[in-house]
Amino acid sequence: MSLSEQLKAETLNSHKQVEKLVIHQIKNISSEEDYAVLLEKFYTFYQGVEELSFPFLEANETAQKLCNKRSPTIVQDFKELQIEQAFRKASDDNMPVPRNYAEALVALYVLEGSSLGGPYIAKMLEKKGIQRGLNFFKGDQADFMNHWQQFKNLLNDVPDTADYQHLVNFSNAVFSGFGLILDKGYQPRQ
Ligand code: HEM
Repeated sequence: MSLSEQLKAETLNSHKQVEKLVIHQIKNISSEEDYAVLLEKFYTFYQGVEELSFPFLEANETAQKLCNKRSPTIVQDFKELQIEQAFRKASDDNMPVPRNYAEALVALYVLEGSSLGGPYIAKMLEKKGIQRGLNFFKGDQADFMNHWQQFKNLLNDVPDTADYQHLVNFSNAVFSGFGLILDKGYQPRQ
């Protein structure tokens, strides 16, 4: 099984858990201020993982070209909402810290994948009456799937001499880190 296939199969439970949490929190949104609370959590997650992972992309020119930081778009959305953003850092004990290129890549897998769910999240928020500050979730859909395919190619270029199981565990730990940002009482189930 390729690394991207193994990640998909073995992070499925983590995905279900955070997806459920996000949907639950969207259901309780009734104002832009409520929305900002959720957006802030995404910022903490994205900014934290990007800061820890991007330095390792320098090891691979294709990865460096392909991957762009998405947390700045959240800062833009806060401006659009005219809401002061409280910059909170992901606490270090929540988020596993990548120590090499492969770990950085599987951490970014969680971010890249979550942008696939973004347009669904944007639709749910629109139904809740949120009309602006949705650029981050809507994403740049023009070459969404192309970008995703290229990112999966990067994953599959990681040689199979690497410990795939370790990388899958790392990815699941990143999901859990986000779960804890979303809800302090989060408990991962495998
Ligand atoms: C309401 C919330 C969410 C919805 C509705 C949603 C929906 C989806 C959908 C439909 C896909 C599959 C896209 C495709 O293959 O065509 C997907 C993939 C993925 N999502 Fe989510 N998602 C949500 C939240 C999240 C969050 C919060 C994260 C991460 C923290 C996440 C991580 C991923 C990952 C890593 C994949 C890639 C799976 C693969 O390897 O194919 N998702 N999501």
